[in-house]
Amino acid sequence: MDKLLITGGRPLAGEVRVSGAKNAALPIMCAALLTGKPLVLDNVPRLMDVRTMAKLLALMGVEVGNQENGRLQLQAARVANPEAGYELVKTMRASVLVLGPLLARCGRARVSLPGGCAIGARPVDQHVKGLQAMGAEFSVVQGYMNASAKRLRGARIAMDMVTVTGTENLMMAATLAEGDTVLENSAREPEVVDLANCLKAMGARVEGAGTDVIRIEGVPSLSGATYRVMPDRIETGTYLAAVAAAGGKVRLTHAAPDILGATLEKLHETGARISTGTDSIEIEMGARPKSVSLSTAPYPGFATDMQAQFMALDCVARGTASMTETIFENRFMHAQELQRLGADISIQGNTAVVTGVERLQGAKVMATDLRASASLVVAGLVAQGETLIDRIYHLDRGYEALEHKLSGLGAKIARVR
Ligand code: EPU
Repeated sequence: MDKLLITGGRPLAGEVRVSGAKNAALPIMCAALLTGKPLVLDNVPRLMDVRTMAKLLALMGVEVGNQENGRLQLQAARVANPEAGYELVKTMRASVLVLGPLLARCGRARVSLPGGCAIGARPVDQHVKGLQAMGAEFSVVQGYMNASAKRLRGARIAMDMVTVTGTENLMMAATLAEGDTVLENSAREPEVVDLANCLKAMGARVEGAGTDVIRIEGVPSLSGATYRVMPDRIETGTYLAAVAAAGGKVRLTHAAPDILGATLEKLHETGARISTGTDSIEIEMGARPKSVSLSTAPYPGFATDMQAQFMALDCVARGTASMTETIFENRFMHAQELQRLGADISIQGNTAVVTGVERLQGAKVMATDLRASASLVVAGLVAQGETLIDRIYHLDRGYEALEHKLSGLGAKIARVR
């Protein structure tokens, strides 16, 4: 199995191109199920999760083109098999995003329950409750949700908590429902807005995406579209955190600085110098970072998907920081691995207290989930000596060409067996 070998202690310098957003590409790919016409997507990142989603859709009967230069064409002329099996769903929870579109298009769906996950329990009750409010009937048989509805009806749905894929699932389902749907307490994440924009390009009537109330007027059918996936704000933030930790000067291109408010604010606090253009961000760090405390929150708050990378940064910063994780109950798995590199972290409940040390020492560590792996890469870039990260398939799920991009910035990093 592939591992990543990093020899740390060098500053980063140069330019790096940000990829399309994984968490926008995945729901947008599912939107292809809503129409028989072709959906042509640009800026689709080359990632394992994208390949998994393509495989899942292909098994349903969707024609999936070859991914070339970021372009991917999907056409669901007929959805022969509205089913998402356990084998794929267990490897990628975002598979549950097919549920709403399948119900809306086919009137039935059989989707495996995702089960547990390294970062927490992650139930899908809000997805189910919302679809039930729209008239769907659910039963659970042998680990699968069997859902059916003649035609979904618009409804007023107040979600009990802010859920990103929950909002996306219900928004997609509502586009083809009869009548109007109002989604209250919707997630305001930019990826929700990107999906809404794609749906609108397909002829859907959606208003309010990006606020906590989204209104959808159902239409009888949707058309195809050509749509460009937004830049990945978490990938962007990961490179920025790496530079703030390791030092250097890097320019990120094809980025979206406007949606990185909370991350950029925290990076300013570390002492990094940041300047932004319309689609570029430049960061310069010449000294040891100052530690930053934070608490994760739904957008526009500080993203839970950036917490691990900032913990790595705090491990080498001046001072003590407290980091509170409010979204997932078990998202500190990276702390123990960071401790193997010499980090000083203590965890009390959902808060980690991190006291920066002057130096981390390279060691063998293990990736446990996608963003945890990213934090080990950030730490490895700073640590003295060699860091060997095992189980990097987690990284391949969500970071396009990570080692090439980092090598391009002068890092000593290689994929080894
Ligand atoms: N929740 C429920 N019931 C539900 C849905 C969610 O209790 O029906 C809870 C979850 O257990 C969690 C909280 O609500 O405690 C928020 O979860 P959310 O549903 O927002 O997470 P998600 O939609 O499953 C997406 C991203 C995650 C990201 C979270 C939070 C995608 C494909 N995934 O997950 O991304 O961490 O939102 O922002 O969009 C990643 O990219 O590494 C990743 C994990």
